[in-house]
Amino acid sequence: MGKRASFGGRLGVLLVAAGSAVGLGNIWRFPCELGQNGGGAFLLIYLVCAVVIGLPIMLAEFSLGRMGQSNVVGTFRRVSGTNKYRWIGYAGVLCALLIMGFYGVVCGWTLDYVYQAVAHGFSSMTSEELSQSFKDFSVQPVRPVLWMMLFLTINCVVVFLGVKEGIERTSKVLMPLLLLLVIVMCVRSVTLPGGSEGLRFLFEPDFSKLTPQVVLNAMGQAFFSLSLGMGCMTTYGSYIGKDINLGHSVLQVTILDTMVSILSAVAIFPVVFAMGINPSSGPELAFITLPNVFNQIPGGYIWAILFFLLLSIAALTSAISLLEVITAFVSEELKISRKKSAVYATVLIMILGVFASLSLGVWSEYKIFGFSFFEFLDDVTARFVMPLTGLSISWFVAWKVGRKRLEKELTNGHTIRAKYLGVFLFLLKYVTPLAIIVVFLNQTIDFF
Ligand code: PHE
Repeated sequence: MGKRASFGGRLGVLLVAAGSAVGLGNIWRFPCELGQNGGGAFLLIYLVCAVVIGLPIMLAEFSLGRMGQSNVVGTFRRVSGTNKYRWIGYAGVLCALLIMGFYGVVCGWTLDYVYQAVAHGFSSMTSEELSQSFKDFSVQPVRPVLWMMLFLTINCVVVFLGVKEGIERTSKVLMPLLLLLVIVMCVRSVTLPGGSEGLRFLFEPDFSKLTPQVVLNAMGQAFFSLSLGMGCMTTYGSYIGKDINLGHSVLQVTILDTMVSILSAVAIFPVVFAMGINPSSGPELAFITLPNVFNQIPGGYIWAILFFLLLSIAALTSAISLLEVITAFVSEELKISRKKSAVYATVLIMILGVFASLSLGVWSEYKIFGFSFFEFLDDVTARFVMPLTGLSISWFVAWKVGRKRLEKELTNGHTIRAKYLGVFLFLLKYVTPLAIIVVFLNQTIDFF
């Protein structure tokens, strides 16, 4: 086998992994969750979840991947030396595929909104018209499907070009741009008259809103936002050089991801409050509320373009990581060239995406357990596949890999220190599984 591709260095690892983590989950989902779950109180719980669950699982995935030097299925085989645990890898690939089925649709929407922002800037539309226009758009049979296909094609080209030339290069350009955009939008937001009320909502925790459900939502959000539980970070881990300090990288990625979530909320809430709009607007926040808000602020035409551009960039770097999980699997396990694998995987995702997109419109009468296919993909991955795969990965690393090998991996063969090893193992062995099981049981009871 030829030498396995690897990322260029510390910065490459950070930007690529953060590219996966920072996505629609940060800019679209996090502010929604915050708005619906009591602002600052949710933020606080989210931070605890990111530290107690996010950090250990990401570290587990990174070290597992680097140890295995293979795709997510091959990694389990190589690290365990048997075929017994391969199913965890299969679950990861399946999860990535199912997530891409609906994520790709929303990614397509973001492109359409960039186009709309440039073409007419939403400026002539009232809030009712905006809301109607989004609803009309998302149920159309052709337009959203075409945008999704365009997005998935761009995504395919990046993965097709390879780990270094495609994925790392793209992340190195797009991630700094994304950070710049989000910071500029924050400054705009907090300097609007009346914006301070939005900041207060964000940072003054209202503990009366804190219910077990809020805690569960925060945990689910941490999982999704940090791209855990489907082998993304395991696959990326296999491209990390042996000289990189995994502990540092994981900490940096988690901090950056959390920062972008908080900055997105800061970019959104003060503007929303300044315009006197109800913050708990749910998933419509990005596609209805914000265009409406941009209409009303000076220079709104530009702000709308910047915002949807930001959303598309974030979506792209995340979609790349999901496609890479499937591509690496197809190419290494089925022994097909990387380029062909990227194309096959994209075609498969497009087929799922067409079903998902149409299930919101012309095929909306077909339901699975009462859900449209789009909602079903979202629900089944968030509630079942992701937590279970995450649990299995952390169980495997904590109990099957063994302290010695883990220590060797985290200390780069005893050349650097990993003083956190004891705490890491404790969290991974007991705290993380318990937390996931509680979320899982709760979600499952809810589901039925
Ligand atoms: N973390 C991404 C986001 O916040 C979503 C994602 C989930 C990406 C799982 C890859 C894997 O949007």
